[in-house]
Amino acid sequence: MASSTAKPRLENKVAIVTGGAQGIGECIVRSFVKHGAKVVIVDVKDDLGELLCQHLGVEFVSFVHCDVTLESDVENAINTTIARHGQLDIMVNNAGIIDEPKLSILDNDKTDFERVLSVNLTGVFLGTKHAARVMIPKCSGSIITTASVASIMAGCTSHAYTSSKHGVVGLAKNAAAELGKYQIRVNCISPYAIPTPLTLKFYNMDENSSVYSNLNGKKIGSQDIANATIFLASDESGYISGHNLVVDGGFFVMNPSFGLFSLMDGIES
Ligand SMILES: NC(=O)c1ccc[n+]([C@@H]2O[C@H](COP(=O)([O-])OP(=O)(O)OC[C@H]3O[C@@H](n4cnc5c(N)ncnc54)[C@H](O)[C@@H]3O)[C@@H](O)[C@H]2O)c1
Repeated sequence: MASSTAKPRLENKVAIVTGGAQGIGECIVRSFVKHGAKVVIVDVKDDLGELLCQHLGVEFVSFVHCDVTLESDVENAINTTIARHGQLDIMVNNAGIIDEPKLSILDNDKTDFERVLSVNLTGVFLGTKHAARVMIPKCSGSIITTASVASIMAGCTSHAYTSSKHGVVGLAKNAAAELGKYQIRVNCISPYAIPTPLTLKFYNMDENSSVYSNLNGKKIGSQDIANATIFLASDESGYISGHNLVVDGGFFVMNPSFGLFSLMDGIES
């Protein structure tokens, strides 16, 4: 499976990708394999996960059923990876969910709020904790969490989702502060809107719907997130820890309400 053209950047590394059965996680799995890593997909969607393993080659990718909200499942996923490969170099906490778009806080139920937090925040806590457990004795490792632009700005998703994504960035920073002494790096990646099952449902959009982009003519895709994840997983980012790498084409830094830099200004049609 390893690409003949690209130089493998994750050779001899073993990675876990939670939520790796579909969407952004699937793209990360495919890209990691291309770059020489052995990958363990951790997900609740057994059929999709197993299918992806068959497709990419069972010598490169395997599947472990795991609900990231359950500590025993997460513990088992990490232990199974160590039993299979003898090491864990990269932990990608990517599994995530979103709730229904109930825009008034008065309509938001505590159970819905806690369900989102339990996957998006507690799940990341458990993944970080059990990855650290096996990385600490080796004094190396890279832990990466898929956050969101909702980790740094308001008004684009639900209260629960926004809270959970702000939370994982805080957790990553704190874990980076603690685990630096073991040379374990902890970072987040914050994607802008990508048409996956998660966003299509929440925003009621289809695959061809366009979202505002600050990079004229460019559309974000899962591969952009996978590329950023490869960077943070590889030794190229060896001095980067506690960082939230925002992959949004400049969406966050631009305030379009001023209208100062019209998107088409200076561009000849
Ligand atoms: N798509 C976007 O625009 C976007 C933007 C910003 C951040 N994100 C984040 O990226 C990550 C991946 O999202 P996606 O868009 O690919 O969504 P997706 O729904 O396509 O995939 C999510 C995956 O997580 C798995 N999952 C859900 N709950 C789980 C659990 N309890 N245990 C184990 N696995 C579980 C699902 O089965 C699925 O395979 C999420 O953390 C999401 O919040 C997505």
